[in-house]
Amino acid sequence: MTRLSIIFDTDPGQDDAVAILALLGARDGIDLLSLTTVAGNVGLGLTSRNARIVCEWARRPDVPVYAGCEHPLLRPLVTAEQVHGKTGLDGVPIHEPNMPLQGKHAVDFIVDTLREAAAGTITLCPVGPLTNIALALRKAPDIAARIKEIVLMGGAYFAGGNVSPAAEFNIFVDPEAAAVVLGSGVPLVMLPLDVTHQVCSSAPRIARMRALPNRCGPLAADILTSYERHDVQRFGVHGSPLHDPCVVAYLLQPALFTGRQVNVEVETASPLTRGATVVDWWGISGRPANVQYITKADADGVFALLTDCLAKLP
Ligand code: RIB
Ligand code: CA
Repeated sequence: MTRLSIIFDTDPGQDDAVAILALLGARDGIDLLSLTTVAGNVGLGLTSRNARIVCEWARRPDVPVYAGCEHPLLRPLVTAEQVHGKTGLDGVPIHEPNMPLQGKHAVDFIVDTLREAAAGTITLCPVGPLTNIALALRKAPDIAARIKEIVLMGGAYFAGGNVSPAAEFNIFVDPEAAAVVLGSGVPLVMLPLDVTHQVCSSAPRIARMRALPNRCGPLAADILTSYERHDVQRFGVHGSPLHDPCVVAYLLQPALFTGRQVNVEVETASPLTRGATVVDWWGISGRPANVQYITKADADGVFALLTDCLAKLP
């Protein structure tokens, strides 16, 4: 595969943290230009701290981290401490990072980087609310034609919502931002709950991570053990969906996933269904098929891939 150049936009967050670790272990396949942080699972100060903590766990203080938007485009921020803990990284000891934040705002970094790079060479990978991406597109509409692809974790249709009956968290938090991205004309790949719910942690899968002869494998196992407690207690399921790590697996081995090119729009007006992603699966609306909507994954293959990435870390 050709090495992908990506900007990973994130709100760590426990599953984000495992995704970032896997990303840092995938240097052969992915050139991580930067992490950009956004408010989501926890506030921006914590997501920006947590992103640097994860980089230091992997001994990668060279990865530039840019802080972005501290609240959605129009709405008050909704966070998810009940899932990820007050720190956003429940389940593992955390430290004050030494590596600094970059001085530039994440939105300006995204715009400048896309303008400076050859068109069609950079993939944006948002795994939190889409506020940073939307603001960059609004601030600099010219970048839309320069983005190779946006591969995002968000949305839900067949699976139902996780933060409301109708909506998935990332889209619920900033539906207006999601509308900007969905209407941008940029090639979009969406990994929604419909597929991430097929990729769930389990004791054997976590055990394989814990057995890795390094520090980051057991760290990821501890995070997932803490992360799944919420879902087991709330939904009575055994194991937690690996939402954000699915984006990393898709980037590295898209053949592990299948989907369909369809129209996806988002509800921004209704209080009842705010953030619902309406998927025209049967092509009856006549609206443009703007999204490659992923609905199936080879879960064993994804876990094997993620574990291989973690094995390459310190
Ligand atoms: O709904 C799951 C998504 O919301 C994941 O990205 C998780 O980290 C939270 O941001
Ligand atoms: Ca996330």
